[in-house]
Amino acid sequence: MNTTPSKYIIQASNLSKTVVTKSGLVEILKDVHLGIENSEVVAIWGSSGSGKTTLLSILAGLDAAYTGQVNLLGYDLAKLTEDAKAQVRKQSVGFVFQSFLLIPELTALENVLLPLEISGELTPHRIQKAEELLGLVGLTHRSKHYPATLSGGEQQRVALARAFVIDPQVLFVDEPTGSLDSDNGKLIIDLLFQLNAVLKTTIVIVTHDHDLAKKCGRILQIKAGRLIDQNLPSEERS
Ligand SMILES: Nc1ncnc2c1ncn2[C@@H]1O[C@H](COP(=O)(O)OP(=O)(O)OP(=O)(O)O)[C@@H](O)[C@H]1O
Ligand SMILES: [Mg+2]
Repeated sequence: MNTTPSKYIIQASNLSKTVVTKSGLVEILKDVHLGIENSEVVAIWGSSGSGKTTLLSILAGLDAAYTGQVNLLGYDLAKLTEDAKAQVRKQSVGFVFQSFLLIPELTALENVLLPLEISGELTPHRIQKAEELLGLVGLTHRSKHYPATLSGGEQQRVALARAFVIDPQVLFVDEPTGSLDSDNGKLIIDLLFQLNAVLKTTIVIVTHDHDLAKKCGRILQIKAGRLIDQNLPSEERS
């Protein structure tokens, strides 16, 4: 049930994650508190192994093995069944991960349409929208191409168009520029900010790239599983 009166669209309190390994207990996240407001672009910034992807996966409802409380879009994730979480994701959440996870047997356009097909919303209007999104990421001329014939940057742009085809309220992005050259990386970043400006989508970007983090409205710095710095939204400063 969506009952949270919080102003935050994403919120974590006392969030910790510990895993058991052969060499003992490993604390991956320790007592994380955060709140992200609607339409913010927030970077989760930290070095390799600091816990960024783990945090993103938990906030997105993809990893349920944590202690503490996590709210996404007003839902306490621990209280939702896997089916209910999948429903929330399908309707309101987009993902762009470092591995693009495009389906090799589908063309660029078919890959963008996939989330709509899954949710049974494949209307002519939506198909037109998917085509427009491919245009927005500069790939109209590649819409009938298969992933294997696209460059890494082009595949990532298809993944971005796919993430936006459901009009997500929240978009989770993991290392968007990790495997791209600087031109393609810049293009992807510009597109993300453009989509935020036009559609007001809340965007959470995991990155180790400080230049990218600085472009975001806010940086949550993570070190060895702890948030060590979190400049607050403007109205909470002072
Ligand atoms: N299931 C697991 N079992 C044991 N250790 C894990 C597990 N998942 C993650 N870790 C460890 O937790 C730490 C954080 O991992 P995570 O993938 O979140 O880091 P990251 O900040 O995303 O790093 P990178 O920038 O390299 O992607 C790492 O030291 C990793 O080895
Ligand atoms: Mg990672």
